[in-house]
Amino acid sequence: MLRQRAYNLRWATVPEDVIPLTAADPDFPCAPEIAEAITSFVSGRYLCYGPPQGLPDFKKTVANFFTGKRNVPAKPEYTMPVDSAAFGIYLTCKAFLNAGDEAIIFDPVDFLFRYSVEAVGATAIPFAIPPGTGQIDIEAFERLISPRTRLICLCNPLNPTGKVFSADELMLIGELACRYNLMILSDEIWSDIIFEPAAYTSIASLGDEIRNRTILVTGYSKSYGLAGLRIGTVAAFTQQVFDRVYDASLHYSTIHGANVLGQIAVVAALTRCDYWLKGFVTHLQRMRDITVKQLNNIPGISCIAPDGCYVAFANIKGTGKTSTEMQQLLFNDARVAIVPGLKQWFGDGAEGYIRLCFATSEPILTEALSRITDTLTR
Ligand SMILES: Cc1ncc(COP(=O)(O)O)c(C=O)c1O
Repeated sequence: MLRQRAYNLRWATVPEDVIPLTAADPDFPCAPEIAEAITSFVSGRYLCYGPPQGLPDFKKTVANFFTGKRNVPAKPEYTMPVDSAAFGIYLTCKAFLNAGDEAIIFDPVDFLFRYSVEAVGATAIPFAIPPGTGQIDIEAFERLISPRTRLICLCNPLNPTGKVFSADELMLIGELACRYNLMILSDEIWSDIIFEPAAYTSIASLGDEIRNRTILVTGYSKSYGLAGLRIGTVAAFTQQVFDRVYDASLHYSTIHGANVLGQIAVVAALTRCDYWLKGFVTHLQRMRDITVKQLNNIPGISCIAPDGCYVAFANIKGTGKTSTEMQQLLFNDARVAIVPGLKQWFGDGAEGYIRLCFATSEPILTEALSRITDTLTR
C-alpha cells in the first residue's frame, strides 16, 4: 500500500529496491478508531460545507487538548482547523508580516519557515542552533532583533535536530518577544514525539503576556499518520490576534478551509487514540536508539540522539563527502534514500549533515542501516 500511496519522496516515488528514509511521514497505518470515525461519517453521505471557523466538536476537542495536555488555556472560539500545519505557518506569516519585515527562524530548521516568510515578501533571519546545542545563547539571539523584526518562529521540538527547548530557554525567548513587541509563531507539530527523560513545554504555557502574542500551530501528520488528510490547527489567545489570522485565512470566502473529514479524524485521534500514540512513541524510542547506535559505529559519522522528532540528523563531515555526494552514494550503492542537509531543505547550517527518518518497522530500519554501513565501511 505504501508503494501506491506514500508520495513526497517516499515509497511511491522511489524505485522498488530503494528504502526511503526521507520525508517524516510514518510507515504505519493510522489508528483503527480514526478509520472508523471517518467511515462512519462518510456513511451518513452528507458531505456539506462545514463552518468556516471549524466544526464545534473539533474546536472544543483541540482546545481541551491544549488545556489538558499542554497546560495552555485555549478557547474553542480562537482555535481553528486549517488544511495543514504547513498552511498554518504560511497563514501566520501572511497575517503578521509585510514586505520588508524580518522574522527570526532557526538554522537548521524545516524549509517551511523560510519558504513562508519569503512567500509574503519578508526576510528570514537565521539563528544558528547547531545539532547538540545545549542552552541557546540568548544574547546572540537578541543581537538578531532589528527595528524591522516582527516575528519569532519557533519550531519545538526542532526538526531536523530533535532539540526540545527547556522552559528556561522558552521563557528567555518569550521575554525578548515582550520587550521588543514581537509576535511568536510556535510550531508544535512534533510535540507528541518526545523521548524520555525529555519533557515538553509549550511557550504558550508561560503566562498571559507571552501567550497573548503567540500563535500556536500544530498538525496531525507526525503523531497520527494523517498527512494525506491535510489537517492542522492554528490557535490564538486574543480576539485581535484571532481576527487577523482568520482574515488572512480566507476561510470565510470558501477559497480555503479545512475539510470536514480531517476534522472528524482529529477528534477521534485526540479523544480515543492516546493508547495508540503511546505505543507509537515507545516503538520510536527503540528505533531512535538503534539508528543512533549504528550510525555512530560508522567511521566519519556522528549522530546525537534526538530528544524529540523521529529523524536522526547525522554529521557526515568526517567522511569528507558533501551532503549531496553522500545522498547520491547511499542512493546508488546502498539503495537507501535520505534527505541531504541542503539550504533548500533546512538552511545553511545543515551542510555536512544528512537526515534519516526512523518512523518505520524494525526490519526495514535495520535493513536500511546495514546497507548504509556496508556501503560506508567497504
Ligand atoms: C516542523 C514542521 N512543521 C510543519 C510540518 C508540516 O506538517 P503538515 O503535514 O501538517 O503540513 C512539518 C512536516 O514535516 C514539520 O516538520
